[in-house]
Amino acid sequence: MSRSRFEPGVGAAARHMNRAMTATETTPRTDLRSSRLRALPPFLFDEIDRKKRERLAAGADVINLGVGDPDQPTPAFIIEEMNRAMREPVNQQYPAVGGGLRVFREAAAEFMRRRFGVVVDPVRHVLCLTGSKDGIAHLPWAVTNPGDTVLVPDPAYPVYEIGAALAGCRVVRMPVGRETGWKPRFDGELAADGARLLWVNYPSNPTAASADRAFYESVLGWAASRGTIVASDLAYSELYDADKPVSLWEARNADVERTPAVEFHSLSKTFNMTGWRIGFAVGHARIIGALQEVKSNVDSGTFNAIQVAGALALRRFDDPIVERTRALYRERRTLAVAGLRAAGCQVDVPDAGFFIWARCPESGGVRDSMGYAADLLERADVVVVPGAGFSERGREYIRVSLTSPTGRLAEAMERIQNQ
Ligand SMILES: Cc1ncc(COP(=O)(O)O)c(C=O)c1O
Repeated sequence: MSRSRFEPGVGAAARHMNRAMTATETTPRTDLRSSRLRALPPFLFDEIDRKKRERLAAGADVINLGVGDPDQPTPAFIIEEMNRAMREPVNQQYPAVGGGLRVFREAAAEFMRRRFGVVVDPVRHVLCLTGSKDGIAHLPWAVTNPGDTVLVPDPAYPVYEIGAALAGCRVVRMPVGRETGWKPRFDGELAADGARLLWVNYPSNPTAASADRAFYESVLGWAASRGTIVASDLAYSELYDADKPVSLWEARNADVERTPAVEFHSLSKTFNMTGWRIGFAVGHARIIGALQEVKSNVDSGTFNAIQVAGALALRRFDDPIVERTRALYRERRTLAVAGLRAAGCQVDVPDAGFFIWARCPESGGVRDSMGYAADLLERADVVVVPGAGFSERGREYIRVSLTSPTGRLAEAMERIQNQ
C-alpha cells in the first residue's frame, strides 16, 4: 500500500514531546518548566536573535531581514482614534466580555462584506482576538481532544503545530513543495481520515504562495467528507500585488451557517499594528463560540480602546494609506527578487505578503540554508531565516522579509551579492 502524503512528517513538536516526556526522570530539578514546554522545539527566532546579538556586540552593522515586523508607523488616524478612545473611562475597564465590542465585531463583519462579498453575523460569526496568534494558538483547546490528529502544512508558520502540540494533539505534517505551488493536494488519495483539524495559510508565511477560490473549494470538499474542521490563516490578505487574496468563505461550497471552518484575520500587517495585538476570527458559530469560551477562561479580552481604534482601521481598509503600504512592498519585492536572483538564488515572484522564499544558490548542489544563512550573517552582516528552521522540507530555502527600510534592503542585497 502506498504511504499517505500526510504520513512522513509527524511534527517536530510531537517528536520533541515524546523525548521530553521520557527525559522527565533525568531532568535536573533546576529546570522548572513543564515537560509540555520542554517538549517544544526552540522558538525559531531565538537562535537567530542570539547570533545577531553576538554580531551587534562585536560592533557590526547588521541588517535584519529575518523577522517580519513592519518598519512603517501605524496610520495617524488610528492613533488619533486610540488617543480619544483611551480617555473614555468606560474603555479603561475590563474589556466587554463575550467576544469583543459590538463596534469592533460590526466593523469586522462589514470588512468581510465589502472586501470579500461575504455576509456574516457580527455576533455569532465574529470573535475579537488579541492578535490572530491568540486565536491560532488557542483553537485546538476549543475544538480538539487530546490525541486528536491535526494536519499542518510543512513548512508553515510554527504556531499551528505548537498550539496543537500544547493541547496534546497528534500533529501530522502535510508536505508541500514548489511543484504544487506550496499547497497540499486534496485529491482523494490521502489516508488522513479522522483528522479533527486542518490548517491552511495563503498568502503563506514562509513560502509566499497564494491560493485561489478553487483551492479552498477542494480543501472544504475533502474536509467535509471526512468530518475535519478547516482553519485558514489569512493574516496577509491586504498586502497583495495585483491579485487580491480570496477568503475561504468565498468558496462555492462554503456556508458560514453549515461549514465547520474558521478563518483568522490580523490587523498587524495591513495597518502596521503588530504591537497593538488585535485580530479577529470569522467562522461557524459553534467554533466561534468554543474559542470564545476558551478565551473567556484564560484572558479578559483586548483593551477596549484598541478595539475601538481597530474598528476604525477595518472600516478604512481601502484608505489610500493602505494602498501606499502595498506600493511600498511592491517596490521592495521587485528589488529583493532581482537582488536575490543576482546572488544566484532561485526565486518565484510572490503575489502577496511581505516575504520572499528563495532557493539557496548552487555550489556543487543547492546549498543548505543553515550554512547559507550563517555565511550571510558572518560575511555580510545580513540576517535571513534559514528554511531549515521551519522544517527539513525548507532546507534549501531562505526566508527574506521586506519589512526593513528600502535603502537598507537595497544595501543588504548588495552585500549578499558581494559576500
Ligand atoms: C502566517 C501568520 N499568521 C499569523 C501571524 C500572527 O499575527 P498577529 O498575531 O500579529 O495577528 C503571523 C505573524 O507573523 C503570521 O506570519
